[in-house]
Amino acid sequence: MCGIVGYIGKKQAAPILLEGLKKLEYRGYDSAGIAVQSGQGIEIVKAQGRLSNLVEKAGGMSLKGTAGIGHTRWATHGVPSECNAHPHCSADGAVTVVHNGILENFRELKEELAKSGYIFASETDTEVIAALIGGHYHDCGDPLCALSRFMKQARGTYAIAVLFRDFKDEIYLARKDSPMIVGVGEGEMFVASDVPAILSYTREVYYVDNLEMARLKADGALFYDLNGKIAEKQPVTVDMDPSAAEKEGWEHFMLKEIHEQPRAAADTFRRYVREGKIDFSEAGVGEELLKPSRIVIVGCGSAYHVGAALQYVIEELARIPVRVELASEFRYRNFIFEENSLVIAISQSGETADTLAAVREAKAHGAKTLAVVNVQGSSIAREADHTLFTVAGAEIAVATTKAYSAQLIVGYLLALEFARLNGKMGEKEYASSLSEIASLPEKMQTILARKEEYRAFAAERFNVHDVFMIGRGVDYAVCMEGALKLKEVSYVHTEAYAAGELKHGTISLIEKGTLVVGVLSRNSVAEKTAANLEEVISRGANVVCLMREGCTAGRFGAETVWTVPSVAECFAPSLLVLPLQLFSYYLSVRLGHDVDKPRNLAKSVTVE
Ligand code: G6P
Repeated sequence: MCGIVGYIGKKQAAPILLEGLKKLEYRGYDSAGIAVQSGQGIEIVKAQGRLSNLVEKAGGMSLKGTAGIGHTRWATHGVPSECNAHPHCSADGAVTVVHNGILENFRELKEELAKSGYIFASETDTEVIAALIGGHYHDCGDPLCALSRFMKQARGTYAIAVLFRDFKDEIYLARKDSPMIVGVGEGEMFVASDVPAILSYTREVYYVDNLEMARLKADGALFYDLNGKIAEKQPVTVDMDPSAAEKEGWEHFMLKEIHEQPRAAADTFRRYVREGKIDFSEAGVGEELLKPSRIVIVGCGSAYHVGAALQYVIEELARIPVRVELASEFRYRNFIFEENSLVIAISQSGETADTLAAVREAKAHGAKTLAVVNVQGSSIAREADHTLFTVAGAEIAVATTKAYSAQLIVGYLLALEFARLNGKMGEKEYASSLSEIASLPEKMQTILARKEEYRAFAAERFNVHDVFMIGRGVDYAVCMEGALKLKEVSYVHTEAYAAGELKHGTISLIEKGTLVVGVLSRNSVAEKTAANLEEVISRGANVVCLMREGCTAGRFGAETVWTVPSVAECFAPSLLVLPLQLFSYYLSVRLGHDVDKPRNLAKSVTVE
């Protein structure tokens, strides 16, 4: 979603802010701006569109000052425009704010201010925040008091960084449900919504906690609770490779990350498997947690699709009932929690607002929560009872690939443990399943080595308008992820359908030239899906059959066949998804889209 950066120290702030914003560019946004405390007060520059516009504009202004804040905006309230871009100021110019999140009660607060004669320059909720803090500051004369009064009247989510004109050598922060970190340098401090923004300067960070405020000076930070009481905390060292945020010669982050999947899968496997045994003890996950009578998996987007695949895998291997729920639905559906339910929340960023809310909802009802998260120190990782980390490394492309793959690995390992402890899997099957999972990285490499096949296909079919992806069981879950990938980056209309459901209405959309991808990995249902593909071939569709080697689908008339190496059926999603990712990537590039930053999308969705 939006990105925040901040700097206070001895160096010129503007270049550091712009550099930090560049590192957040991958999150997708529509405008950007920075504010610097200079000798003449607070100077602000903003620009609509890509960051290069802001860099060019700021270059011509030579902003001087060693403290400042910056922001990339993903429009929520008000169109993307220079006027709506952050930073926003209070009318008297005393307070300047950048904000991530949504102030939910902004309309009523804005109306009250407007009634008293306040004139707003933008359509944003953030300007209301600046106005409110400005008003409180005018009344109490103290930045922390002003922030805390604002926090007590605000509803919604926010991470805000604030400059007070009268406090030239300080930056103030406040946070509720939107992530924010403080980086510690030598005589300098950094602020960021995401670790990659400051990784080239420092790895020592403080996590700003929920409903906490902070006062930053060049030589240190102090944290306060809502009532202004000092909160003690220690910085932690972030374990993230700075090269993850660099393209390192690859044309795009998405292509780089697709190729990192064998490594991400292997590292994630190695983290939890030692000497032929799965060991989740580092997360405090013991036998008791792994013997639930029901499992609910929650997530959004691709993380939900991992859940959709795991539902089949866990039920098949462990015979424990599993429900998979979109986190955005789960949080409001008044879910019936049964005794001994385990709620598994899956999230790459660990910051997705709906998934975080789902964790809170589950905890509030006494359910045990287990998170599968990629980003250490993230909100979901800190709030769930237990967290298993995927070892995908920083994922930069908006469309997830390697995090999805790493999540599947953790899910398979959980399925094996559920099965073993539920008495459904003997030692032999457990050992052979583990070696099947261990074989995935090498098999992924063989698919990546054939990427030219998918590039050529994308080049040939670049004018396709409608795509359907069909499969049964876990193959259907793969279709859901493949369809999302294609939509996200190529903007081609794509739908995933359970193969048996197509003829109940949707088949009316099949006509000459429609592309239908059939996913076939399961022997028990392959012939049935093959028959459904025959039905669309008879109606003029062009069919691609994506098949696990060794799958017994029989002969049928698909004009293109993509195969992935043979593997135990439950673990086939890890391989089947790769051709669909590569096809999506190459089609997007062929169509000239910005594959790493698709239109309208954000990497981490911290609003509802
Ligand atoms: C966004 C991203 C998706 C991602 C989803 C959930 O929509 O664009 O790629 O799957 O959020 O994100 P999470 O960080 O919770 O996995």
